[in-house]
Amino acid sequence: MTLAPTPAALPASSPHVRHGSSIGQPLTRRDGFLKVTGQARYAADHHPPGLLHAVIAVSTIARGRVTALDVAAAKAHPGVVEVMTPANRPPLALDPDAKNDPFMFKLELLQDDRVRYPNQAIAVVIAESLEAATEGAALLAPRYAAEPARVGFGDSEPYVPPAVGMGMPAEVHHGDVAAGLAAAATRVEATYDTPTQYHNAIEPHAVVATWDGDQLSLDMPSQGLELARGRLAGLLGLAPENIHIRSPFLGGGFGSKGFASGPQVLGILAARLVGRPVKLVLRRDQMYGPVGHRSPTRQRLRLGMTKDGSLSALEHRATVTTSTYDDFYEPAAGISHALYVSPAIATAYQAVRLDTATPTFMRAPGEATGSIALESAIDEAAAACGMDPLAFRLRNYAEVEPISGKPFSSKALRECYARGAERFGWAGRPQPPRQMRDDDGFLVGWGVGTAIFPAFMFQGHARAVIRRDGSGLVETGAHDMGQGAWTALAQIAADGLGLDLERVEFRSGSSDLPDAGLAGGSSHTATAGLAIHNAGGDAIAKLAALATGDRRSPLYGAGNAGVIARDGRLHRRDDESRSEAYADILARAGVDRIEGNGSGAADPASQEQWSMHAHGAVFAEVKVDPELGQIRTTRLVGAFAAGRVINPRLVQSQYHGGMIWGVSFALHEHAIIDRRSGRVLNADLAEYHVPVNADIASLEALLVPEEDRHVNPLGIKGVGEIAITGTAGAIANAVWHATGVRVRRFPIKLEDLLAAGA
Ligand code: MOS
Repeated sequence: MTLAPTPAALPASSPHVRHGSSIGQPLTRRDGFLKVTGQARYAADHHPPGLLHAVIAVSTIARGRVTALDVAAAKAHPGVVEVMTPANRPPLALDPDAKNDPFMFKLELLQDDRVRYPNQAIAVVIAESLEAATEGAALLAPRYAAEPARVGFGDSEPYVPPAVGMGMPAEVHHGDVAAGLAAAATRVEATYDTPTQYHNAIEPHAVVATWDGDQLSLDMPSQGLELARGRLAGLLGLAPENIHIRSPFLGGGFGSKGFASGPQVLGILAARLVGRPVKLVLRRDQMYGPVGHRSPTRQRLRLGMTKDGSLSALEHRATVTTSTYDDFYEPAAGISHALYVSPAIATAYQAVRLDTATPTFMRAPGEATGSIALESAIDEAAAACGMDPLAFRLRNYAEVEPISGKPFSSKALRECYARGAERFGWAGRPQPPRQMRDDDGFLVGWGVGTAIFPAFMFQGHARAVIRRDGSGLVETGAHDMGQGAWTALAQIAADGLGLDLERVEFRSGSSDLPDAGLAGGSSHTATAGLAIHNAGGDAIAKLAALATGDRRSPLYGAGNAGVIARDGRLHRRDDESRSEAYADILARAGVDRIEGNGSGAADPASQEQWSMHAHGAVFAEVKVDPELGQIRTTRLVGAFAAGRVINPRLVQSQYHGGMIWGVSFALHEHAIIDRRSGRVLNADLAEYHVPVNADIASLEALLVPEEDRHVNPLGIKGVGEIAITGTAGAIANAVWHATGVRVRRFPIKLEDLLAAGA
């Protein structure tokens, strides 16, 4: 374990640190060595004996029916063992189109001959080798009865969705927007378009499935083991405990691995059909369809400002898309509820149904799309008022949550603005656009964006064991998808047991362990961390009871609250020189191990009282080639406050990742959909652009200290998604400041600037 100097100031130790000092240390990832040496085994690295390979054949049309498949040709191919189609797919215990709760997504599991989107699985070819399965799939030569694809906002009748995101209302009104706009001294009205985006995890969705009677073993990347297990149990008619999912490593998830996907279930069914283990791994081009995407949005904002630059009205309307057969609505306007104050705020949605797969959660779902529109509009409002965009934000940011009137559980946004601005050098910024050039003649622009993300918690459980030798074992089914959960949660585990990190074994990544909840919504460290902390506390309480009730112990009579656990010993609180080692307590009591259990979840009473969010501010510099319109992000400085920092190195890395997503959103990512076929034309990582190292010149994330006593007992807020918000808008605003051209369709392209004569 490497200990490095703390890269940024940390909050001083607080009463939450009960048992130790691992929390707050900038440890490197515990799994880093395994990953860089190739020893980390991802799902597709598993090869059980007798393994067969499955390849899905996918539709090339967006809508219609499959009328013919040449199954005989595929089966005649050497090495092909079986072809699974609707005719022979093993039966399911649950209709894949059943929807028993809003977050049960409908799946395409060869239930019939219908095609509902391009790249939908229409058959599965199972063979002795990947090559044979791939060739067999090509021999199926499907024929279709195709119908015209509905691919754009105008192709389908708009309607008001029943709810958006995780059950939020589709219309929210606070105050009188019409009156606020009518009374305004200055108004801004603008429409922003964001594109369809795909998650593009480096590790494609995969499964290696082995059946043994009614026991099912799976190697399968998952952000939510218990959710996936429950969904599979329902579909397959198995008891959940008969399904064993191993998922120690994920090569990225970003929301697309939150639920069991259709192709993974097909791999499991293929294994059942042939009675041998089966591996199914999506090809890169097959990732653009059956495993989710981010809906495109069209967002119209109307802002009214008084003479002194205060908002008098804020209206945010979003049009989003979903599939023809299921419901998920990107909650793009929700961000306007919690960030800026106005006497009148209204948000509303429309949706259209298209011949795509169902969109899903993706990297700050709603906040990312909404933030880029809101932060652009706020910038336009500042310019309309003749104000510096940071000064405008400082005037208008909300001190309490505007609609509910709830106070924030903590809010260090002012410090984020101040620290970020100072580090960036914002003070020297000329207010009008197109004022700065560098030595090479490039146009230079500076922009700012506010970052915000809710502090969610789901539900998680953990087990903590103190073993005979005084060492610890902490078990929870948590998910390390690259964010460093394995490391941060182990730090919490060590402190929870009052042990050095080296003395605690941390087991994770299996559905046979206590459910750690979903690694999503930037909630995982808070949820699983609290469960681990509570499990440790439970074990320590049981240990303390053994000691304080025993006359032979130096702790006798101290009472449970009268001891503290540190360095593998219990100490008397009133006299710390009197202490006893865990191993000695257990040995004298003749006890082999002590087990504690704990849960983590949000406290509804606290949620009722407080509005809980992480905050931040991002400053961006771009340079634009005045002849070619080429845009480069040359500097990014973000300052973020998100409660207690468990591991500053990992938190900084999360912020860096989020800021890079922001660059990606503003300037790169865009799935180009063919109007005729509905297919994604750039379904690969060569043409679906994401930033590479050369696109990120300088990136800095400052950790602003913040103590939140209300969000949860550990004071943890999530850090995974916040940095995409703020950043994308800051870059868009910097492009305007460099060129004087306001581009409202994302990603911003050089041709947008050239067309506008920039
Ligand atoms: Mo995230 S979109 O909650 O994995």
